[in-house]
Amino acid sequence: TRHLLGIKNITEKDIEKIFETARYFKEVINRPIKKVPSLRDVTIANVFFENSTRTRLSFELAEKRLSADVINFSASGSSVKKGETLLDTVNNILAMKVDMLVMRHSSVGSPHFLAKHIKANIINAGDGTHEHPTQALLDCFSIQEKLGSVAGRKVAIIGDILHSRVALSNIFALQKLGAEIMLCAPATLIPKYAKDLGVKITYNVREALRWCEVANVLRIQLERQQIKYFPSLREYTLYFGINRKLLEELDKEIIIMHPGPINRGIELSSDVADSPHSIILDQVENGVAIRMAVLYLLAQSN
Ligand code: CP
Repeated sequence: TRHLLGIKNITEKDIEKIFETARYFKEVINRPIKKVPSLRDVTIANVFFENSTRTRLSFELAEKRLSADVINFSASGSSVKKGETLLDTVNNILAMKVDMLVMRHSSVGSPHFLAKHIKANIINAGDGTHEHPTQALLDCFSIQEKLGSVAGRKVAIIGDILHSRVALSNIFALQKLGAEIMLCAPATLIPKYAKDLGVKITYNVREALRWCEVANVLRIQLERQQIKYFPSLREYTLYFGINRKLLEELDKEIIIMHPGPINRGIELSSDVADSPHSIILDQVENGVAIRMAVLYLLAQSN
């Protein structure tokens, strides 16, 4: 395949190949000389129509570690503000002899649309509420690294599932790798199609925590919420917020994950986010190796 548009259309074998390559690159970037010449003379544009800290910086670092030439584009401050279309913007960037495009956009399906119109490899860095494939890959890679396997593991995804691209990509990736999944949120934040995804669903955070080995806690995405009956943030924290006291009720330790950015004190308390059971910064570290692997493997397909 020439693109990474989502997890839905890749196979378990593809994911294992990405993990094997990422393990190699993780070792490389822990050496004193972190750079390899694998993508020398390849030019990559990071095109971000939505805000990002982790994804954008980790793609840029991954590209530089692979010796690619890198250009960065943010919609804010660009001629998008003068009305230029997505396709015109991208075609102008590609006219500068760009080989690969990493794109984040608020519209569901925008990288799939571009894939029909342009020749460059496209990597989806998040399309609206749809998919965020490299996040799911780094999440599953981090679970495998921590627990030795993903198959058979019980993973609860707790938070704003409705507006989360991380949730959908995680569901696809975890299922392909053989994990069991439970979604946990207020009913207003679980999409209707969730019942057809082959996952367990609960509205009780204690039930999710008692069941799981890993809790992937998601951000409440206020910027995307338009529904009327959402519990207030105070109610959300009261009924669904993960804190030390809740975890102390369990007779086991669970692994805490979060894709970031965290709303501290809302979906996750600081004493949990910063506890030894949190692998949140390991996820970020693994993001660079995963993105190096994806870029390297897609470049091979050209
Ligand atoms: N996890 C994630 O996508 O973070 P950013 O929005 O900061 O890239």
